[in-house]
Amino acid sequence: MSSPSRSGAFAEQVDRRLEKFSESISFDHRLVIQDINGSIAHAKMLATQRILTDEEAAAICRELEIIGGQIQNGEIPLRAELEDIHMHVEKALIDRLGDVGRKLHTARSRNDQISTDFRLWIRDSIDRVDLLLLELQKAFVQRCTPDLHVIIPAYTHTQRAQPVLAAHYWLAYCEKLERDRERLRDCRHRVNRSPLGGAAVAGTSLNIDRYATARMLGFEEVMANSLDISSDRDFVLETAFCLTTIMLHLSTWAEEWILWSTTEFDFIELPHAFCTGSSIMPQKVNPDTIELIRGKSARVVGNLQQAIVLLKGLPLAYNRDLQEDKQPLFDSFETVEACLELAIPVVAQSKLKIDSIATRLEDGYLDATTLMEYLMKRGLPQRQAHHAVGSLVRAAMQQKLQLRQLPLSAFQELDPTLDSSVFDILGTANAIQSFQSYGSTAPNQVQQQIDEWKKSLGLTS
Ligand code: ARG
Repeated sequence: MSSPSRSGAFAEQVDRRLEKFSESISFDHRLVIQDINGSIAHAKMLATQRILTDEEAAAICRELEIIGGQIQNGEIPLRAELEDIHMHVEKALIDRLGDVGRKLHTARSRNDQISTDFRLWIRDSIDRVDLLLLELQKAFVQRCTPDLHVIIPAYTHTQRAQPVLAAHYWLAYCEKLERDRERLRDCRHRVNRSPLGGAAVAGTSLNIDRYATARMLGFEEVMANSLDISSDRDFVLETAFCLTTIMLHLSTWAEEWILWSTTEFDFIELPHAFCTGSSIMPQKVNPDTIELIRGKSARVVGNLQQAIVLLKGLPLAYNRDLQEDKQPLFDSFETVEACLELAIPVVAQSKLKIDSIATRLEDGYLDATTLMEYLMKRGLPQRQAHHAVGSLVRAAMQQKLQLRQLPLSAFQELDPTLDSSVFDILGTANAIQSFQSYGSTAPNQVQQQIDEWKKSLGLTS
């Protein structure tokens, strides 16, 4: 079977090795629905423009619907010699309609067609990822109320730093995921522009209506330059980047909970339905789900890198290299969706080990910064207060005591006017109450943020 793309210009049959080497149907079959929808819009427009008759367009549209279903359910076999999804659809149409089928490719090239299909596919995929991100945000917000009174250490440099509410952690992830959603929304506008009718590279001499196809396909805009249309893959890059930031966020969360689930931290119990065992060590409950999420982030980062390098130095306009843009993005979407689908139940079902956290919460001088600020409020310059509290911490460490266990006299050495009310700000439970600034972990601030998140995510209680 010879491909409809081989014109009379060819002196010989294609070499089998090239067929196998250059086919894209093994992965671009994913675009079948988009290819059918794009072709239907194109055929309808050709009829309105009197380039096809209404009868021809109706027959084409009817057969295209059927072909779409048949490719999806495997009734039409995929063949390397037909190269890509466009040729499979067109060949099936020609087999059924003969010359009428041969008219569909009027005023269109696979160059604008592939860009159209891919944009439509990415648009739908962005919408699916957005929904999953929303579900993950909800899972974090829904943890906030039951976990509201749990105080845990916040870390910088993986060293205990200051006390925060567990809910503050959950909302930190909501913020990151919100930016991921914003980025996708913004990127979607540039994905959602119509290349259809740009044809191969210079447009067409036929009287087409590009606005009509754009409207039918739900594109927000019509791309204005056929050279740009044929060559543009910015939309692939920025989508791949948006997916990468999602995975970077997930990998941070995964790494954190992997640590938190160790005996050393003992902060969280992961749901056993999402853990695996060891074939030799019977005591092991391993956090494989989130380890794999962390691990799979590498693929998505790698896919972005591949797409960037692919585009470097390509001259205008379409080059066959561009076919290599699909696998990385397909893989990134598949990976991100799979990871989000698992992250949602893991976030929802994991349990904080409240007692274990509380037992060691007063270790690590989490209240030292609050004490420093207390002294500053009494007039001590920050650098002096910083030094003084540091010395006090050193003394406390030597005696294996917490700050609140030191005698009042130790504090009065820093500032003779101090009285026993200094103890009201010491200890993590007191320290956390003294935060005030917007965005801080102060319980009233966090509660306000929880309320706002619930409202914006459409959660009731
Ligand atoms: N399979 C090709 C791709 O993914 C479709 C476009 C082919 N165009 C061409 N002129 N060979 O880019």
